[in-house]
Amino acid sequence: MIPQEIERYCEAHSSPELSFLASLNRETHLTQVYPRMISGHMQGTLLRFICRMIKPDRVLEIGTFTGYSAINLALGSESMVHTIEVNPELENIIRRYLKEAGIENRVTLHFGEAMKIIPTLNECWDLVFIDADKPNYLNYYKMVFPMVRKGGWILADNALWDGKVLSRKTADKETLGIIEYNDYVQMDERVENLLLPFRDGLMLARKI
Ligand SMILES: C[S@@+](CC[C@H](N)C(=O)[O-])C[C@H]1O[C@@H](n2cnc3c(N)ncnc32)[C@H](O)[C@@H]1O
Repeated sequence: MIPQEIERYCEAHSSPELSFLASLNRETHLTQVYPRMISGHMQGTLLRFICRMIKPDRVLEIGTFTGYSAINLALGSESMVHTIEVNPELENIIRRYLKEAGIENRVTLHFGEAMKIIPTLNECWDLVFIDADKPNYLNYYKMVFPMVRKGGWILADNALWDGKVLSRKTADKETLGIIEYNDYVQMDERVENLLLPFRDGLMLARKI
């Protein structure tokens, strides 16, 4: 993991967090039981920049939480973003900040189990961001894969899971989910992939 002072240096040499994203970040920390789940400034910006670079038309996010990453995915592109969240209690905060970001018409929220919702979305995805329950990561990958266009991207957050991916023997089911995911993607000849040691690890896979 990157030393904290290096992280602080990087943050000090990156554009500041947009004001409404800073508010969302603050409100998430004040109101949510597990605020650490939020992408946060640096990863949010990376997602926004990735979208600026690849210019996707159709984006799917699995795991909305308070909407921080969904907003960045939408701000970085002119695409339609679909995002899936199992917890309906988050709807109010998500919708308020989508409105503040001025992108409420480009983000479609789906509430429910991602495994049930994904097959109902009849889209060809340019970018999929997996960031929900870890034991299902591989199920999500296998389910979305046929719906991703050639040249499209599947990104998965928490690919290092606090470094726990290194010890399979002591792994709990979340860690095993990530290990299984990383191993599968690494062996999958239908993609080229890069495990980026950024924040908690971001696995990038491009369908070839
Ligand atoms: C790590 S958080 C997502 C963080 C968000 N992408 C961000 O960057 O701010 C994971 C979210 O996935 C949701 N989730 C967990 N299991 C899910 C499931 N089976 N279907 C849909 N969402 C799920 C959780 O409720 C939680 O809000």
